[in-house]
This record gives sequence, structure tokens and C-alpha cells, in this order.
Amino acid sequence: MKQEILVREAKSSDKEAVLRFCEQTFEWGDYIADVWDYWLTDPTGKIFVATDKDTPVGIVHVTILKTGEAWLEGARTAPEYRRKGVASLLNKACIEFAVEKGAKIARLITDSTNVVAQAALAKLGFSQISDWALMELDGCRLEASENVRWAEKSDVDDVLRYFDGSECFRKSAGLYTILFRWMTLDSKALERFIERKMALVYEKSSKIQGLLMFDDTVKWAWRKNSVQTCYIDGNFIAALNLGRALKRHCYNEGIAKIYGTMCNHTPLLEAFSELGFVNHNHTELVYEKRLV
Ligand SMILES: CC(C)(COP(=O)(O)OP(=O)(O)OC[C@H]1O[C@@H](n2cnc3c(N)ncnc32)[C@H](O)[C@@H]1OP(=O)(O)O)[C@@H](O)C(=O)NCCC(=O)NCCS
Repeated sequence: MKQEILVREAKSSDKEAVLRFCEQTFEWGDYIADVWDYWLTDPTGKIFVATDKDTPVGIVHVTILKTGEAWLEGARTAPEYRRKGVASLLNKACIEFAVEKGAKIARLITDSTNVVAQAALAKLGFSQISDWALMELDGCRLEASENVRWAEKSDVDDVLRYFDGSECFRKSAGLYTILFRWMTLDSKALERFIERKMALVYEKSSKIQGLLMFDDTVKWAWRKNSVQTCYIDGNFIAALNLGRALKRHCYNEGIAKIYGTMCNHTPLLEAFSELGFVNHNHTELVYEKRLV
């Protein structure tokens, strides 16, 4: 009988069949089992499944992260159904959903080593816009920093002006991350970090010359006593001092681990290596597709 692949919204009864083909996607396994229930009840998103005779053979999750910005993740095609257009059909469903929800842009990430996904993304009209390193530090010591203070609401305009000439901001494509999702770093986003006392500025000669934003969503999402850097900006010295200030903060708060996520920019990586962060020598590539 001819194979006919259809796409529909996922149902909770699809879970078992989906998890069966998502067990060993990557060398280390897969994370779909950990997020399935959460994605299925996502009030701003949907899981789409591709089916053959109503049996799931592919999935993807799409969600609206903020007004106008859709995020795609978890694209998986069962190994025996690959290269038959399954991911392309699922991507089409996501884009239709995103447009219907008013998204002007869709973004996603893939690992720098995932050449198959990169080929698929090029075919689907996505362009690579940014490249992010993932570093980690276990155990924070008390360290002295210079020229670093907590950002205040009154700094927002100065920080935005600083971004205009910042190479980090350009290389970050104007985005910040929480967990493995990337969004536009605008004044509202910056204010939210400032309100939660999770933004540090590096200020010298009365001029802002660096910024570090962090977040503790990783604490509940990955069940680790940890924080994650969401955006880092500045030259080597600025990054070094911002990192020292964050380590001191974590030491004082009893936070054991820092996930250092930052754009793949040599001065940042060198500063964080000097701070004792370990680099995993593969990066996350951020892709984008304009929808209108
Ligand atoms: C990446 C993945 C989702 C692609 O799914 P798929 O259903 O095979 O993709 P499609 O058949 O729709 O392929 C679309 C295009 O991608 C490219 N492509 C897909 N697989 C490829 C491969 N193995 N080599 C080179 N190009 C490939 C081709 O251009 C293809 O179009 P074509 O067949 O007309 O030439 C699938 O390989 C997969 O599940 N991989 C493991 C999980 C993963 O890496 N997910 C992506 C995380 S971002």
C-alpha cells in the first residue's frame, strides 16, 4: 500500500509511539521524554505529528515566545522515514501556525555538529544568524571584581546606546537565551532582568562598557542548583570582571553551578576560560526565517 504521510496536532495517546522513535536520536539519547507532557499542554504552542496510517513517524514543537516571534524545537523523524519529506511537512504546519498567531519571524537552533539538520534548514529557507558557546563551571569561589554593579532601570537607555556599537550584540543577532530558546533583547526584556536583580553592568569612566544577564530557570528545568548566563557583552576585561561578580554572587547565594551561554566571540570565551569555565567545543547555531 502507498505511504501517505499526514500531519495533525499531537494527542496524548501519541506519546508512546513518539518516544519509541525518540529514544536514541543522538549519541547521548534524547530529551523529548522529559518535555512531551509540558509541550502537549503548552498554552501558546502545539506539537505537530506526521503520521503513516495514523501512527506517528515524526514530530516538532512550535511555540510563540513573545509577540511576533515563533520558536521551533524537537524536530524528529523516525529513522526509517527520513529523507521522505516528513520534516518538511511538519515545518510547513509550524510556519502556518506561527503566521496565524501573528509571528513575523521563526527561529530555532541546531548543534554545530548536526550537518544533516543544517542541510534541512537551508532547504527549508532558514538562515544562520548567530553562533553560541555553551560553557560550564562547577563550584563558585569568592572573587573580587572591579567596575561591576547591578544594573538599574535608569541604565536601560545607556545600555541600548551601548548595544549600537557592540560587536557582541551584533554577533548575538540582538538575542538573549533562556534554557535553549533565543529571543529579542529589547528594553522590556532588559528591564525584566533588572527588576529581578539578574543584570550586571561593567561601568568605567562613567560609561557602560559591558553587560551580563543571568537567570535561574535552569534550577527547576534541569533540577540543578544553578544559574545560566543569558547574554554577555564586553571586551575581555569587562567579561572577566562581570564573570567574577557573578561567581561571587553565586558563592554568596549557595549556587553550585553556572551554565555559561554566550555568543561565540573570542574575548568572551577567553575570559570565561580564565574564570575556570569548561568549553564543550561545539556550539549552538541560531537560525531564523522571516515569515512576512
Ligand atoms: C533533521 C531531520 C529532522 C530531517 O528530517 P527528514 O524528515 O529526513 O527531512 P526531509 O525529508 O523533509 O528533508 C528535507 C531536506 O533536508 C535535507 N536533508 C535531509 N536529510 C539529509 C541528509 N541525510 N543529508 C543531506 N541532506 C539532507 C535535504 O535537502 C532534504 O530535501 P531533499 O530530500 O529534497 O533533498 C531528521 O534527519 C532527524 O530526525 N534527525 C535527528 C534529529 C535532529 O537532528 N533533529 C534536528 C534538530 S535541530
